[in-house]
Amino acid sequence: MEQQKLTELLSEMTLDEKIDQLLQLAAAFYSDKAEEKTGPMGDLGLTQENINNAGTTLGVSGAKEAIRVQKEYIANNRLNIPTILMADIIHGFRTIFPIPLGLGSSWDLAAAEKMAEVSAKEAAVSGLHVTFSPMVDLVRDPRWGRVMESTGEDPYLNSRFAEAFVKGYQGDDLRTDFNRVAACVKHFAAYGAAIGGRDYNTVNMSERQLRESYLPGYKAALDAGAKLVMTSFNTVDGIPATANRWLFRDVLREEFGFEGVVISDWAAIKEVIAHGAAEDEKHAAELAIKAGVDIEMMTTCYTDNLKELIAEGTVEEALVDEAVLRILTLKNELGLFENPYRGADEAAEAATVLSQEHREIASDIAKKSMVLLKNEGVLPLQKTEKVAIVGPGAHSRDLLGAWSWQGKQEEVVTLVEGAQALGADLLIGQEPFDYFAPSEAAIQEAIELVKAADKVVLALGEQEWMSGEAASRSDIRLPQAQLSLVETLKEYNEQLIVTLYNGRPLDLQGVDAAKAIVEAWFPGTEGGNALAQILWGEYNPSGRLSMSFPETVGQVPVYYNVDNTGRPYESAPDEKYVSKYLDVSNYAKYPFGFGLSYSPVAYSAVTLDQPTMTKDQTVTASITVTNQGTAAVWETVQCYIRDLVGEVVRPVKELKGFKKIWLEVGESATVQFEITEELLRYVHSNQQLSSDPGKFHIMIGGNSRDTQQTTLQLVR
Ligand code: GLC
Repeated sequence: MEQQKLTELLSEMTLDEKIDQLLQLAAAFYSDKAEEKTGPMGDLGLTQENINNAGTTLGVSGAKEAIRVQKEYIANNRLNIPTILMADIIHGFRTIFPIPLGLGSSWDLAAAEKMAEVSAKEAAVSGLHVTFSPMVDLVRDPRWGRVMESTGEDPYLNSRFAEAFVKGYQGDDLRTDFNRVAACVKHFAAYGAAIGGRDYNTVNMSERQLRESYLPGYKAALDAGAKLVMTSFNTVDGIPATANRWLFRDVLREEFGFEGVVISDWAAIKEVIAHGAAEDEKHAAELAIKAGVDIEMMTTCYTDNLKELIAEGTVEEALVDEAVLRILTLKNELGLFENPYRGADEAAEAATVLSQEHREIASDIAKKSMVLLKNEGVLPLQKTEKVAIVGPGAHSRDLLGAWSWQGKQEEVVTLVEGAQALGADLLIGQEPFDYFAPSEAAIQEAIELVKAADKVVLALGEQEWMSGEAASRSDIRLPQAQLSLVETLKEYNEQLIVTLYNGRPLDLQGVDAAKAIVEAWFPGTEGGNALAQILWGEYNPSGRLSMSFPETVGQVPVYYNVDNTGRPYESAPDEKYVSKYLDVSNYAKYPFGFGLSYSPVAYSAVTLDQPTMTKDQTVTASITVTNQGTAAVWETVQCYIRDLVGEVVRPVKELKGFKKIWLEVGESATVQFEITEELLRYVHSNQQLSSDPGKFHIMIGGNSRDTQQTTLQLVR
């Protein structure tokens, strides 16, 4: 439909219909079972009219149900306007991929785009139009449960993944490509910086820090064409994001040029009252509509108050009109006026969802996301070795992560099943093994298996409910019972390999007895196959951490791109009066960008094709990388810079590029990075991005700690 027709449609709508278009309701309100909707209707005080005209819906799933809901919705809508079916497809629809924190550790943008493409395809044939993804909140605190949804601690890496997600979800033309869905980037803004890592807590930072570290990921998603933005629950400089005019009108709309739809997070408009920034729902509605929030998710501040606010002149009807027009435009961009059912198709759904092809893609991506953190000569396992697989993760199907919605645990491949599929020589227990309080029988059985084994795979970790929304932890160690198991089993067999299913960087105190540690994250539906193939060397581990693992939770936040301070620890760790702790180093146990492979890779010195550059020049940094192992390997070559003197202090290291290269046994490759003046810019005290002449360190290596360094001079 042409834009002009949309404007005409808007003019035909009554004020009540326009206000209802701003309401998003959950699937229950459209259930064909009256008992499922009576309660929610009563809770929100809604009429059937409100429901008939609520502009968008969340949580409907399945082609048949989506077609039924849309058909009835259009029939009940006076102007036959279609609804938009939205849902949280965070890392897979029914075929579940690794959690985004795992995907982030793949450093594989093609994999991320493929994950989003497959997720979109399964969601679209099941009737969905929009996903509330990608979540691009930068996170430096592993206590925060939603760290599992992020791609980690770095603005540059998060930005590249944000772009890949949006491209995979949306493709090139949402209006005609019904295998795609619109992307909603969230949570705007800086939700991952909650003080203390406690979900929904205050976020306090300078505008400059916000712009330097937290906004780039959202901007990258928007520059890639994301159609929606979701508000965050937190305050930004004391004002709840959902009522923050500076954030949404000045930054998102004016500065970023975003013209799409802004949707509140669940009840976030009403929560402006609890924050203490609104007197009541009427005040909250006024603040949110003036801030530019178009859709209210699952509360009725708009429904119950906008008409009065307009009648009394507090809110101009034009603000409602612009919000409605953005929603109608999104419906049009999705092709819903011509094709209200889009990709919903029961036959296609049956053939597409959880197909073998999608399982294979998920297995491949899961392998790429896993990180070998430690290996003292015990991995890869050989099929001739007798291997005991014990612990709570051995038979666990709890591999999907906290945001897997349609994913089903019964469809998950366990580690034991994955190992059996490889034909490995296994000793497997049958006793159920609890994550927190394993039975004496389970422990005794494990001891007997361990005694008889050449090597031991001890599968440990968190359960899904221990991360995700409203799942922050103050103590991020493994459950005590699991640490006790490490101590017990090491007495019977020292060839201990620990595997981890978890949704956050952990404090791995108590696991040191393990000779190898494999970080598997929540690896998704094919997790057991992927982990087994890593353990037995069918896949040479290539994952690199996208978030630091602390020595202890007491160090948190610990991240790689820190400021040097006036009393840097780095240069004088043994002195008293330096920035340090008395009881632990400042360093992460496993730093950002870190990961091992079965093939050691050597780096040459880094060279520049010229030692100085002017603003309009480009310098090429080169380094040669050699596979010194006995197996081919993917190596992620990482390029960091340090601006030695800035108008504001600069981090000791900033990721500015990376390249994944395949190296055959004995192969050497020269990797080059183009250093441009744009890469040397940073946010100054005037909030503007610009570069300063001066010295820069260029550092290249296989992680953020072990790099080769040279110096570049930027001259006027
Ligand atoms: C939740 C989450 C948000 C999600 C929304 C809809 O509270 O904060 O990420 O998209 O509600 O489920």
